[in-house]
Amino acid sequence: MYAVLRSPGEIVFGRGARRAVPALVAARGSRALIIADPFLADSVEIGELRTELEAAGLRSALFTDVVPELPVSAILSAVRAAADFEADIFIAIGGGSSIDTAKMAAVVVAHGGDVPDYYGEGNVPGPIAPIIAVPTTAGTGSEVTPVAVVTDPARESKIGVSSPYLIPAVAVCDPELTLSCPPSVTAASGADALSHAIESYTARKGEVGDLASSRVFMGASALTDLLGLEAIRCLAAGLAQAYRQPDDIQARSLTMFGSLLAGLAFGTAGTAAAHALQYPIGAITHTSHGVGVGLLLPHAMALNAPARQQELADVARAMGAGDKPVNELADAAPRLVRELMTQIGIPLSLEELGFPRDRLDWAAEQGTHAKRLADNNPVVLTVEAARAVLEAAYAGTLSFDPETLGASR
Ligand SMILES: NC(=O)c1ccc[n+]([C@@H]2O[C@H](COP(=O)([O-])OP(=O)(O)OC[C@H]3O[C@@H](n4cnc5c(N)ncnc54)[C@H](O)[C@@H]3O)[C@@H](O)[C@H]2O)c1
Ligand SMILES: [Fe+2]
Repeated sequence: MYAVLRSPGEIVFGRGARRAVPALVAARGSRALIIADPFLADSVEIGELRTELEAAGLRSALFTDVVPELPVSAILSAVRAAADFEADIFIAIGGGSSIDTAKMAAVVVAHGGDVPDYYGEGNVPGPIAPIIAVPTTAGTGSEVTPVAVVTDPARESKIGVSSPYLIPAVAVCDPELTLSCPPSVTAASGADALSHAIESYTARKGEVGDLASSRVFMGASALTDLLGLEAIRCLAAGLAQAYRQPDDIQARSLTMFGSLLAGLAFGTAGTAAAHALQYPIGAITHTSHGVGVGLLLPHAMALNAPARQQELADVARAMGAGDKPVNELADAAPRLVRELMTQIGIPLSLEELGFPRDRLDWAAEQGTHAKRLADNNPVVLTVEAARAVLEAAYAGTLSFDPETLGASR
């Protein structure tokens, strides 16, 4: 058996957990830059947080110029704010875009240079100031992951930065903060979380040798499997209800817990084909990360089915499929995911998303270039295999030609 897990030093989850932030900050710093999602700029939550920080004898400054999907220019404004305030700790409160802004700002403040210096895997040379990450969406898992995803106008696709140094010091998950998410944000972020859980559970199997490599994504292991499977259970139980009934705190809690567990699972194991292929789709259609991965996920599962029968059967069971023979359950898994995506209003075809058919070849090629993700897929993601996934996703049908499948790892 093999197991590995990287995570924040402390994780706090529960209704009202945000009230623990001042004490968590006081143990780690004295001058906090709060990087907050613009929707929180004049909120009661930020007002209370700043009052409580002050009562604890801590100084704080507020930065709210976070831009969704994270253009490089927005990171540089946060870097200036942190340097001007001489921040020694960051509180990131918002969706993945806010948490990733804090991660990249902390990297540039600590190590200098420019954002592109850190693109790719393992290019952050050392520790950064502690980040207390407080998500307000249930999706990216960025509160626990070694990843930040940025948009660079000099490149067509988004680009990832991954390094264990990016893992926040503390994750504070308070489901009450997600109650205000509109259904479109609940759906996109929830689809992202489910993709993290399923892609990490079916990923390339990690091995002890990976520990000595410079890989950030270590492949599936016993610990990430536990977390990934439980994440799928929670998301299958809570996501559609949180979408239909935004003020249902039970559904919000299940969804946020699922997203946290999925973040822990993929933060170590990594994601795979659906995430790799989302980069070019997002670049052309300007649709959110979660919508793209949610649409692609069932097709990536169908590609991987021959190599991951048992795992996909487990996914189907975690989604409530009952007890049936493994092959029947494995066949059902992509359909169950698609049904859930339909329930939460995720478009079912790339055509519906506005992706031009004549760019499918380009997208297949680009997707295979996201090596950190493509290399983590259980089936080798050749350009042909990527093209087959995209073709199926374009049509929105779950039929798959086995001839196009790549070899298992
Ligand atoms: N770092 C990681 O591990 C990781 C993983 C997956 C995705 N990402 C990245 O994260 C970003 C997406 O993050 P996201 O899905 O959380 O969305 P987001 O942070 O981009 O926010 C989306 C929208 O929702 C609003 N919003 C957020 N929380 C809200 C709330 N509680 N109530 C009302 N409105 C709210 C925001 O203001 C914004 O308009 C993308 O850039 C994606 O590439 C990062
Ligand atoms: Fe994701």
